[in-house]
Amino acid sequence: MLKASLITDKYYKIGDIDPRIYGSFIEHLGRAVYEGIYQPGSPFADVDGFRSDTIALVKELNVPIVRYPGGNFVSAYNWEDSVGPVAERRKRPELAWQVIESNEFGLNEFVKWSKLAGTAPMMAVNLGTRGIDAARNVLEYCNFKEGTYYSDLRIKHGFKKPHDIKLWCLGNEMDGPWQIGHKSAHEYGRLAWETAKAMKTLDPSIELVACGSSGLMMPTFGEWESTVLDYCYDSVDYISLHTYYNNHANDSADFLANSVGMNDFIKSVTAACDYIKGKKHSKKQINLSFDEWNVWYHSNEADKQLEKWVHAPHQLEDVYNLEDALLVGSMLITLINNCDRVKIACLAQLVNVIAPIMTSDTGAWRQTIFYPFMHASNYGRGTTLQTICDSPVYDSRNYTDVPYIDSAVVWNEKEESITVFAVNKSFTEDAVLTCDLRQFGDISINEHIILTHDDLKAENTENSPVNVAPIYFDGDTSEDGRCTIMLPKQSWNVIRIRIC
Ligand code: AHR
Repeated sequence: MLKASLITDKYYKIGDIDPRIYGSFIEHLGRAVYEGIYQPGSPFADVDGFRSDTIALVKELNVPIVRYPGGNFVSAYNWEDSVGPVAERRKRPELAWQVIESNEFGLNEFVKWSKLAGTAPMMAVNLGTRGIDAARNVLEYCNFKEGTYYSDLRIKHGFKKPHDIKLWCLGNEMDGPWQIGHKSAHEYGRLAWETAKAMKTLDPSIELVACGSSGLMMPTFGEWESTVLDYCYDSVDYISLHTYYNNHANDSADFLANSVGMNDFIKSVTAACDYIKGKKHSKKQINLSFDEWNVWYHSNEADKQLEKWVHAPHQLEDVYNLEDALLVGSMLITLINNCDRVKIACLAQLVNVIAPIMTSDTGAWRQTIFYPFMHASNYGRGTTLQTICDSPVYDSRNYTDVPYIDSAVVWNEKEESITVFAVNKSFTEDAVLTCDLRQFGDISINEHIILTHDDLKAENTENSPVNVAPIYFDGDTSEDGRCTIMLPKQSWNVIRIRIC
């Protein structure tokens, strides 16, 4: 039995959690849009063709923002192709994923869908093949009230009220050689600065995200952040981070240790932001938008065999297992514990494409990673508390001193509750976690939700959709502000505590 402990104090706060860290992402890629959220003629479709079974699951996830329309897709995207009468929209070869884009579903449909799903769009502009002009035009179309060419065009398209989209990404992964219109840090920094200037002149109420590196392993990492921010520090609000982990090596201990790498990534980007802040003698703080994160690798081989230039193929359809859910849980814990600087994060993606939700012609189901995300998004709202944690550690191929027990503590003062999120990364031993919460006075354990399975590789599929599903445990104890919690081996845990 492993032994771990944590102590916290309600006056020691890391920060208030911005609910937007529970964002997600829909790209025009594979079956994310077509068959995922939009499928006219399906028995699940509403009058607009939106799948209501998908919407119900998105609502369970309680997603405050959804990034759209890409991703790599956005870097060759002409937004004008996606608005106006559907019959007149252009079909285009889509260069990023080498498929056909029908544009039946576009910007206005996405805004409409977002409202129904209880979320808000986070739009990206194309800084690959396009630039300042297209960015200011799409912003005018979306946010300008009336009386100008593009605002009146929106009204003509049936949307009298502006969409009032508050959050915009200045391109996508512009450091990546795979990106259409890939740029050097100097080229991108200048363009991001000028685009930001034009967009904020048109609508000063918006917030802007500049592209950071597309991964910690990029050869330009660090230099990219500081060069880009040196140009656009004063005109942007956030810098992006992206990361996807894989277990190609089938080394599960090392795979689960990747949350340590994610934490290092966040700390390094924060340092780059603060270096430019110091250099510029600025009072402004740039925060982080972790707008793509997940596990992605199961579908890599299948995707190499895909036929090109078809519409909405089965692309990036990773089937997730328990160990993926455990890493996703640890990544959520990492985001929660860095809430002082990470204000936005998007699980990439939402439906069918490396996603928590899958659909077929006969229904929709929850992948394993659905559960940690749903729990964190619903119960991880409030203030993250600083904790002193004592956990046994292990070394893996790429990491040293990896805690077996990852944890985060969130205090929701309004609801008089505390939630402890914890992952036990041991494959052989259960753990007992003692939590010292005496600062809160009397407490009692409300519920303890566990996601686990004997088989680390257990999956949920269309034929077996609840193979990995949460269970409830009522054997924990609490006395005089201290609780003793059982964390089964290889498990994700949510302990909901009432302050009496
Ligand atoms: O989410 C899939 C892809 O991963 C995105 O299009 C891109 O930004 C990243 O490389």
